[in-house]
Amino acid sequence: MANVHYMNHPLIKHKITMMRKESTGTNEFRKLVEEIAMLMGYEALADLPTREVEIKTPIEDTVQPVIDGKKMAIVPILRAGLGMVSGMLALVPSAKVGHIGMYRDEETHIPHPYYCKLPPFIEQRLIVVVDPMLATGGSLIDAVNEIKAQGGKDIKCMCIIAAPEGVEAFEKAHPDVELYIGALDRCLNEKAYICPGLGDAGDRIFGTK
Ligand code: PRP
Ligand code: URA
Repeated sequence: MANVHYMNHPLIKHKITMMRKESTGTNEFRKLVEEIAMLMGYEALADLPTREVEIKTPIEDTVQPVIDGKKMAIVPILRAGLGMVSGMLALVPSAKVGHIGMYRDEETHIPHPYYCKLPPFIEQRLIVVVDPMLATGGSLIDAVNEIKAQGGKDIKCMCIIAAPEGVEAFEKAHPDVELYIGALDRCLNEKAYICPGLGDAGDRIFGTK
């Protein structure tokens, strides 16, 4: 389990509880997804390297740390992952954004890719894949397969709610990738929805149901 990180911050826990409530409307739900993405991003990026630079304050010259190392790519899995992009960009405004389109067949629950556009020099970037839901794991596993096929190497994934089945499948498929989970739920139901979960994340973000 070395590459799976579970969030323990009370603010993240509280906001996830608010998201889950059936009575939470689209506007509030979107805001919560954005805020949770920012809080989880803060944790997931805690190991970013820094380097020392010389600066001048109004008082004196000094040497202080700035973020160093690779450029970043944020890659939402469409549609629901889009809701997490603004929270991540608030932390790293210079990040480029790629998109992977994927929908689950309602009967088989197998993901079907329909779009992929990643920023250039993907092999040189730290890539953060975002999707609020990790259910069977199929969508995230396929998304990371595609990113690796295009040369991506340094990959982290952030999911707000996960089922144990999805975490296990993802760990098996991509043991080299760091996975950040906001809350680990009980199980999947017969329709492969997460229990207790929050329902359909895409529909709740975009108000399509
Ligand atoms: C949801 C969610 C994940 C996927 C998780 O997307 O946002 O991408 O399901 O399920 P899995 O782990 O079993 O693959 P969905 O297919 O409903 O598409 P949408 O975001 O366009 O609604
Ligand atoms: N996708 C969702 O949006 N919710 C689930 O519970 C499972 C997959």
